[in-house]
Amino acid sequence: MGKSGLQLSVLSYGSWVTFHKQIDDTIADELMGIAYDNGVNFFDNAEVYARGESERLMGRVLKKKNWDRTSYTVSSKAYFGSRGPENKPNQTGLSRKHLVEACHEALQRLQVEYLDIYFCHRPDKNVPIEEVVWTMNHLIQQGKILYWGTSEWSGVEIMEAHRAAEDYRLIGPVVEQPQYNLLERQKLEKEYLMIFKTVGMGTTIWSPLASGLLTGKYNDGIPEGSRLGLEGFEWLKDQWMMEDKLAKVRELTSFAQELGMSLATLSIAWTIKNPNVTTAILGATRKEQLLENLKALEVAEKLTPDVLQRIDEIIQTKPLLPAY
Ligand SMILES: NC(=O)c1ccc[n+]([C@@H]2O[C@H](COP(=O)([O-])OP(=O)(O)OC[C@H]3O[C@@H](n4cnc5c(N)ncnc54)[C@H](OP(=O)(O)O)[C@@H]3O)[C@@H](O)[C@H]2O)c1
Repeated sequence: MGKSGLQLSVLSYGSWVTFHKQIDDTIADELMGIAYDNGVNFFDNAEVYARGESERLMGRVLKKKNWDRTSYTVSSKAYFGSRGPENKPNQTGLSRKHLVEACHEALQRLQVEYLDIYFCHRPDKNVPIEEVVWTMNHLIQQGKILYWGTSEWSGVEIMEAHRAAEDYRLIGPVVEQPQYNLLERQKLEKEYLMIFKTVGMGTTIWSPLASGLLTGKYNDGIPEGSRLGLEGFEWLKDQWMMEDKLAKVRELTSFAQELGMSLATLSIAWTIKNPNVTTAILGATRKEQLLENLKALEVAEKLTPDVLQRIDEIIQTKPLLPAY
């Protein structure tokens, strides 16, 4: 993972939206089992997912599976809180108080003794960066977390954390969790380029399928029971169900067919072709989806420079870089 010593599988498995809301203990047990048996060694979670219920569910599965704790990694993230509208001051954000308390709560819910990775789920302008870095360093010293990272921070914010870590000789962030998929490329392919070169950083990228849009399943409307049709996720539907995006996805679906692969595997494979991606976190509500998505590893070998160029021509999202 970046310059750190941690080894993450190229594909990993996360629980946003799915755990508790769409998936119960039995299915989560099956899906985590399939992931683990296929080499996945990173399971991603956060305090805010299903207001803590996602961590509780993952914790129950981990306990039942009784896998060797040294054989997998598990994360949590703090910032949004786990109490929804009941969140009081200090129950959200990145203050020392919330980072420490959220860590304790995540450990209890996940039923583990330490988190392998602890993310600051968003930047917090109300907290001095020194407080965040000192707190993360302290949690590492206490053995409660092993590595820490950021999620959706700007390049400048990440570098501020490194500056503070250097000033006080503390352990800085080693990983960022940004959205990255064929329709969302700015941070990974433009904003972070200098950071990858200088301090170095791993990435655990999210929504490789743009919540399912990049499977082609929404090409002719919203299939029942799928994410963009869920109550409470209208904002996500509005973000993705746009005619210009759908038109490109339809064209890409035909191209994937020509190549003899599914659009889902093409889209995931495309993310892991980027050498700055450490792991692509998969989401899946069904066994068939996960088994399909895991094939992305083989498909990645088929994405030759010519194929990648054709994908770029169809999707037209490649960020423009300044000509040096
Ligand atoms: N740090 C952050 O801010 C942040 C934000 C979001 C996510 N994440 C992390 O990233 C993980 C992955 O994100 P994501 O769930 O948005 O990933 P995604 O791959 O973009 O979307 C996954 C969803 O797409 C549908 N799907 C997946 N494979 C499919 C297939 N082969 N055929 C048809 N439909 C398929 C399923 O939803 P349906 O079956 O319901 O349609 C599935 O739950 C999350 O679990 C979480 O751990 C982090």
